[in-house]
Amino acid sequence: MNISFDNKGIAYFQGDFRRNQIIDESAKIGKNCKIWFWVQIRENVIIGDNVIIGKGVYIDEGVKIGNNVKIGNNVSIFKGVTIEDNVFIGPHVCFTNDKYPKAVNDDGELKGSDDWECLNTLVKEGVSIGANSTILPGIVIEEYAVIGAGSVVTSSVIRYSTAYGNPARRKWPTYYEKINEKS
Ligand SMILES: CC(C)(COP(=O)(O)OP(=O)(O)OC[C@H]1O[C@@H](n2cnc3c(N)ncnc32)[C@H](O)[C@@H]1OP(=O)(O)O)[C@@H](O)C(=O)NCCC(=O)NCCS
Repeated sequence: MNISFDNKGIAYFQGDFRRNQIIDESAKIGKNCKIWFWVQIRENVIIGDNVIIGKGVYIDEGVKIGNNVKIGNNVSIFKGVTIEDNVFIGPHVCFTNDKYPKAVNDDGELKGSDDWECLNTLVKEGVSIGANSTILPGIVIEEYAVIGAGSVVTSSVIRYSTAYGNPARRKWPTYYEKINEKS
């Protein structure tokens, strides 16, 4: 990727026009990625090839993203999340990582980075996550599962299944049964 950094570490994608982005210099970004306006990519993020990152996306430190991933506008991917190849993430999806979040400790001091438990989330190959879904911490979404729009995913989702709602539950017919019916 053709990225240049100014002296404040602000990165600019060199395209037809200037797009404001903040990409940490330690982030590794693969070939043929398209990164839109107002994206922030934090320290030690690893992103594969052919990844599209929509407007306003936030990718927290250490997040790993595979190849051919499409990330819609305003998605937040926090620390502890790994996304494998060929995953679709709809606009406004939010991944979480702290199951019991609090701003301060019992003594009233603001919590620091060691004062909470980061639970890891894994999104396996080929998964699609519908717009505006929230993924609770410590979840595995297995291969090719489809999560409906607006879902709150509170437990792991098995491969090739379709789940939606709040809380997200497995539904039939699955996405794949439906598209097979049509063909
Ligand atoms: C999950 C999904 C794939 C299911 O599609 P489908 O199998 O064709 O589902 P249908 O439209 O036949 O709906 C079946 C039932 O589930 C309900 N339903 C469908 N999607 C739902 C969702 N996301 N949340 C809650 N209920 C949903 C419908 O209201 C319907 O209920 P009813 O039988 O009581 O009327 C689809 O609805 C969806 O959410 N796709 C994601 C869209 C998206 O976010 N795209 C992002 C790019 S813009």
